[in-house]
Amino acid sequence: MYGQPKVLVTRPIPQVGMDIISKACDVQILRCDTPPSREELLENVRGMNGLLTLLTDRIDAEIMDAAGPNLKIISNYAVGYDNIDVEAATKRGVMVGNTPGAMTETTADLAFSLLLAAARRIGEGIDYVRKGKWETFKPLELLGRDVHHAALGIIGMGRIGTEVAKRARGFDMNVLYYDHRMRRDKGRSTGAVMCDTLDDLLARSDFVSLHTPLNEKTRHLINTHTLGLMKKTAILINVARGPVVDTEALCEAIEAGRIAGAALDVTDPEPLPSNHRLLQMPQCIVLPHIGSATVETRNKMAVMAAENLVAGVTGGVPKYLVNCEKPAVGN
Ligand code: DGY
Repeated sequence: MYGQPKVLVTRPIPQVGMDIISKACDVQILRCDTPPSREELLENVRGMNGLLTLLTDRIDAEIMDAAGPNLKIISNYAVGYDNIDVEAATKRGVMVGNTPGAMTETTADLAFSLLLAAARRIGEGIDYVRKGKWETFKPLELLGRDVHHAALGIIGMGRIGTEVAKRARGFDMNVLYYDHRMRRDKGRSTGAVMCDTLDDLLARSDFVSLHTPLNEKTRHLINTHTLGLMKKTAILINVARGPVVDTEALCEAIEAGRIAGAALDVTDPEPLPSNHRLLQMPQCIVLPHIGSATVETRNKMAVMAAENLVAGVTGGVPKYLVNCEKPAVGN
């Protein structure tokens, strides 16, 4: 390779990350506020040694081939990497990096905020005051549900699920979890009780919080059948990935009163059209995928993604490598 390695950053990220990249690389950055179109991506990846991508960029074999044989690394500015065809990358000898751990507690904080907001109808309360409906104290108005001593069911006891369990303990909740890897040790450190089946967790929980990655096993894990197993009073929380929930089934379940409501930071599709049914429902809270959106966390993610990128294009192995070993076919 002559000169500095060439890298593409598909959207502006915090400056701390850009500083690391620009010291070591010849950087091209797509300075738009919305995801680049497929055509723009295909055009701009050409000849790149590294890509720093966002979860909104679909990075598949076509993009990798358009980048060409000198592509060494795709560094995702996210812990989730369902937007990247990792198998295709591995086959081409391209490393894939991500940012695990950076947003664990920040996302857990948001999951817990959503739980509290949905349980105590915070969004409705804010609207009520703003719309001038607050006449006096009313014994029967805006009644929510208790969080303390309620049962919280966590699906996916990884890093974020574990942090949510810790927060729930502070509220004296009874924490249950289901984890397809059956990690009993996770319960020991958090006081959470493992359920042997998903059905059991769904039937026993007052709040169900999703913390799984998106993959073929978890796509539409929450569907008409599984929603039907939940309590009528239960609230669903999703800060993981939108497609873990079948949106249509969720709308029907809330409309039919089969569950009490939902609090979502991620949806399918993203963004939800502004006239979507879910947005008309008072028992549903929707946020625009802000689980990791704090200054501190986004800076940490930027540093991790930038260091992964620089390591990958300068002959090293990124600290946070998704395709575990260095891919066999180096280039
Ligand atoms: C992730 O990192 O996967 C989040 O969804 C965005 O920060």
